[in-house]
Amino acid sequence: MIRFEQVGKVYPDGTTAVDDLSFEVAEGELATLVGPSGCGKTTTMMMVNRLIEPTSGRILVDGEDIARVDPVRLRRRIGYVIQQVGLFPHRTVLDNTATVPALVGWKKAKARARAAELLDLVGLDPKTYGPRYPAQLSGGQRQRVGVARALAADPPVLLMDEPFGAVDPVVRERLQNEFLSLQATVRKTVLLVTHDIEEAVRMGDRIAVYGQGRIEQFDTPAAVLGSPATPYVAQFVGADRGLKRLSVTRIEPDDLEEPPVARLGEPAAAAAARLRAQGARWAVVLGEHGALHGWVAADALARADGRDTVGEPARRMDAWVPVGAPLKQAFGEMLQHDAGWVAVLDGPRFLGVLTPAKLHEALRRSVDADARGVGRDEVDFDSVADA
Ligand SMILES: Nc1ncnc2c1ncn2[C@@H]1O[C@H](COP(=O)(O)OP(=O)(O)O)[C@@H](O)[C@H]1O
Ligand SMILES: [Mg+2]
Repeated sequence: MIRFEQVGKVYPDGTTAVDDLSFEVAEGELATLVGPSGCGKTTTMMMVNRLIEPTSGRILVDGEDIARVDPVRLRRRIGYVIQQVGLFPHRTVLDNTATVPALVGWKKAKARARAAELLDLVGLDPKTYGPRYPAQLSGGQRQRVGVARALAADPPVLLMDEPFGAVDPVVRERLQNEFLSLQATVRKTVLLVTHDIEEAVRMGDRIAVYGQGRIEQFDTPAAVLGSPATPYVAQFVGADRGLKRLSVTRIEPDDLEEPPVARLGEPAAAAAARLRAQGARWAVVLGEHGALHGWVAADALARADGRDTVGEPARRMDAWVPVGAPLKQAFGEMLQHDAGWVAVLDGPRFLGVLTPAKLHEALRRSVDADARGVGRDEVDFDSVADA
């Protein structure tokens, strides 16, 4: 959808801002550009909507060389959230949000109706906030208006330059999560600039890690964290990259173990005998349609009254996560409930359990560790517990 082919930019004063950039962002994907200040992120972004022209190479949007597209027409297809939000101070929030639709010639009523819809989408009640002026909003609310405005003309491409930069960490995380759930619905092709590796990892389907004016690595968060391409990237992503990888690696059905199982209505004595034969000390208790009910200890079953079913001595299972959740969430559940394993569910249905050994295997799988040499020593569970 957005394709950079050996793109370079030398400013008239001789500064090389970027050199030989080649990467591609697929339709509906969110790529984060991350790197220290001055490494060329904003320049990269502004070349996509031709606010800056490259001095070499070419950029394709939707297969079309943008050098041949009229810049005004191009920008209609590209929403832009600029670094300092940049709302017009003397226009209401509603009119700020309606800026682009109005510019491209929508009727006023239609543009405003669309703006109200967008404000709602980013969590601002249009009745309350629409009539206000930007100065009457908090930093976080202004950032939301910036996002709403960029989405207003429903462009397929979105450029976001440090969109959550000007707010405190708590609000920032909330805005990030809101944007991710928004993105899950609107599926824009997004370039998001940040200098914060945590934000890059959390938001990006892919990350471009910038050194000075060039991309050192362009890959998925798991790959960047698991196998940094250069010593620079390794240093940039930090020594705790093993930890960060926990948050980007998701639980898959193949990661799970199948523990002994007892059925809710089954006689306790029968279940006890079966577990004894298997040498199992506990079992997962399942109800109808394989739904997780809880767990039961083998000796509790053995002590149960002759008429009891498995349901009576069964206990609740608090440590569980949905399949597809990040490993970090599973690990968090283990710690919080002091559990040796967590149940993994697909809706109400029990799929299996994740044990610490399996968790470690999953972490290795996430980066194709055998091929690329990620060692067990990189997974530092003690520091996870401290985090
Ligand atoms: N108009 C300009 N003229 C000359 N140099 C510029 C201009 N704009 C940016 N630069 C330089 O280009 C480099 C990259 O800048 P920029 O893309 O803004 O970086 P980032 O967004 O990563 O902080 C920096 O060295 C910056 O000083
Ligand atoms: Mg910048």
